[in-house]
Amino acid sequence: MLLKLSTMKENILVMNKLRIVGATFFVTAAIAVISSCSDKRSTGLEYAPNMYKALAFNPDQPNKNFRNGQTAQVPPPHTMPVGFDEVEEAYPNTPEGYQAASANLVNPFPATTANLEDGKILYLRMCSHCHGLTGQGDGSIVQLGKFPGPPSYSKGNSSRGGTMKDLTDGKIFHTITYGVNLMGPHRYQLTPDERWKIVLYVHELQKLQ
Ligand code: HEC
Repeated sequence: MLLKLSTMKENILVMNKLRIVGATFFVTAAIAVISSCSDKRSTGLEYAPNMYKALAFNPDQPNKNFRNGQTAQVPPPHTMPVGFDEVEEAYPNTPEGYQAASANLVNPFPATTANLEDGKILYLRMCSHCHGLTGQGDGSIVQLGKFPGPPSYSKGNSSRGGTMKDLTDGKIFHTITYGVNLMGPHRYQLTPDERWKIVLYVHELQKLQ
């Protein structure tokens, strides 16, 4: 009899434990469900919320620090966005832009030894794998058979009319800036000054026999 009583007590304890675990699970689950559904726009529980909610103002947020109460301000007159290039703006990537560049643009860099040397280094890095070390259209990727060879600077013809050796400052600058057909644009890789120095060196390659 005594033995039976003690096993009954143990059973009741186990049952209570199970009930407590069950209830805890239910309450936790309910809290999780309720807190995630109450507000559709809420992200729920946030870890390190200062990563989501920055101290900085959003551009569209009201801002008392400015007279007009806005965060996004109009730039002061005569300012230019980063990377803005007046020449690119004036000579767009169109056949007319190409012809206008040819008629009006003159290389601002004189053909000094130093400028030509800079141009050569840039040409070898940025152009020679297609156009070839001496501009004959036999660059390394052409020799691998991976790319159709561009026309030779000294002997070929331009797909836009005329011979390659007659290409002007403006046409070469426009081509480096925007690319043409299979040749991609290089305006994000090369600054306008770098492009002009390359133009100097391409003129040297146009003279080769
Ligand atoms: C991915 C290969 C490739 C690279 C890199 C490349 N070109 Fe070209 N380039 C070509 C091809 C192909 C053509 C011929 C495109 C056509 O006319 O259809 C061409 C055409 C040209 C022309 C003739 C444009 C015209 O009006 O006919 C010039 C000038 C030129 N490239 C200069 C350069 C210079 C300078 C560089 C380096 C800054 C360069 N290219 C980089 C492939 C390349």
